Amino acid sequence: MNKSRTTRNLSIAETGKSCYATATTTTLQTLKTKTTMPKTIIIRGQKELKGSITVMGAKNEALKAVAASILFPGPVTITNIPDIADIQCLFEILISMGAQIQYQNHTATIDASKLHTTTIPKNLAQKIRASVVLIGPLLARYQKAVLPPPGGDTIGKRPIDFFIHALEKMGASVTFTKEGYQCTTKQLRGAQIFIPQISVTATETMMMAATLAKGTTVIKNCAQEPEIEALAANLNEAGAQIEGAGTHTITIHGKKSLKALKKWNILPDRIEAGTFAILAAATRSTLTIKRCDPNHLQSLLYEFDHIGVPYTQTPSTLTIRKTSKQYRATSIKTHEYPGFPTDLQSQLSILLTQCQGMSTIHETIFEGRLHYLETLKKFGAKVILFDPHRAAITGPSTLKGTTVESPDIRAGIAFLIAGLIAKNNTTIKNIYQIQRGAEDIVNRLKNIGADIEER
Ligand code: EPU
Repeated sequence: MNKSRTTRNLSIAETGKSCYATATTTTLQTLKTKTTMPKTIIIRGQKELKGSITVMGAKNEALKAVAASILFPGPVTITNIPDIADIQCLFEILISMGAQIQYQNHTATIDASKLHTTTIPKNLAQKIRASVVLIGPLLARYQKAVLPPPGGDTIGKRPIDFFIHALEKMGASVTFTKEGYQCTTKQLRGAQIFIPQISVTATETMMMAATLAKGTTVIKNCAQEPEIEALAANLNEAGAQIEGAGTHTITIHGKKSLKALKKWNILPDRIEAGTFAILAAATRSTLTIKRCDPNHLQSLLYEFDHIGVPYTQTPSTLTIRKTSKQYRATSIKTHEYPGFPTDLQSQLSILLTQCQGMSTIHETIFEGRLHYLETLKKFGAKVILFDPHRAAITGPSTLKGTTVESPDIRAGIAFLIAGLIAKNNTTIKNIYQIQRGAEDIVNRLKNIGADIEER
């Protein structure tokens, strides 16, 4: 970010009421991420972990909740928002468009009711995929939006054709110029929408767009993630009429406006909970994962049963138990929720290096999400990459520490798990990718006994 943008953001924050002063902090934290935040993680592996670790709020619900603030006629307060780089980036996008944001102790109060522009800044849109969901609320509430091609992880092509098709069905006109997708409408109207391949953000974007559209929208072949149900439940609390979220068909009866909401509390992050569960199993540790919902992790627990990872659960905790028994190989195929999440595929692959026999991985969602396996070989893992979607891992292998770059959020945290079970030292560079999705991860892992530091 250049200096003039920073000054502009600061002045937006400063011209707001004093209670919005922490918007300045948000901007400064983002700057800190870029310039002075640690860039490298160093791990001395093979330490047993112990105790408990608490799960933060779900990144992929929090991003949509922040975007949904645009639908509200006044401020909305959202709690349990993780303090991670992707959220800071979305805050910065909204601040640069005229929103006022106060963020402290994982609680944000956002007033996006008087945006001075509906153009999403290019440099920030290109940092996060979630910038795409802004077009739904922007079109619904302001009847226009300019979306530069959204960025994010290098895990595949990630087109936005489903979004454009659906918005056109709802009466928007979309043209592509050098600034990005120019979207306008007199007013969005209810429509019959079919999403050809299950898509989380397309489902959420259309659900938000339809909330303030004229008439009824029916969306078919929707994603069923718990974060989508949570988004719908909170919008309904504010007066929206959304039926069927959590199933493949969602019906939305459009409303003229939303009402104030008492409180929007973000769900625990099921992907972070699953990551810690895999970490405990891979390091052969007894670890309790607190403030999670094990019901959201049934596909992972099914694999744990196959592999031989012992665990116990309560409605809000999951305890992984240490075992000296040999783990068994398994086959995983990623699938939309409630199937095995693509967002846990790279982390599980580290556990597969510790299983007896040949495990197979079939990544069905993204064609670029097995690239990290080439790097995993540097740790001494026995990996065969058949094609962009299929791979095999043979174990058990003793991993050896090495130096790697973090390629994306999930592969970065997978390398961190690899480092924690490897002999000797591991250095992970480009940890911005890890910070995008995991809050204060080094200190939280230190607290459960990991020998890890950041520089
Ligand atoms: N797709 C299209 N056209 C579209 C939209 C999607 O072809 O217009 C395809 C994609 O290329 C992909 C498939 O549909 O093959 C499914 O992608 P989806 O749209 O569901 O992914 P997403 O909504 O962009 C969200 C999460 C991802 C998570 C996926 C799958 C957010 C911000 N991102 O992405 O999270 O992997 O769903 O569950 O919610 C992560 O957190 O690390 C992450 C990448």
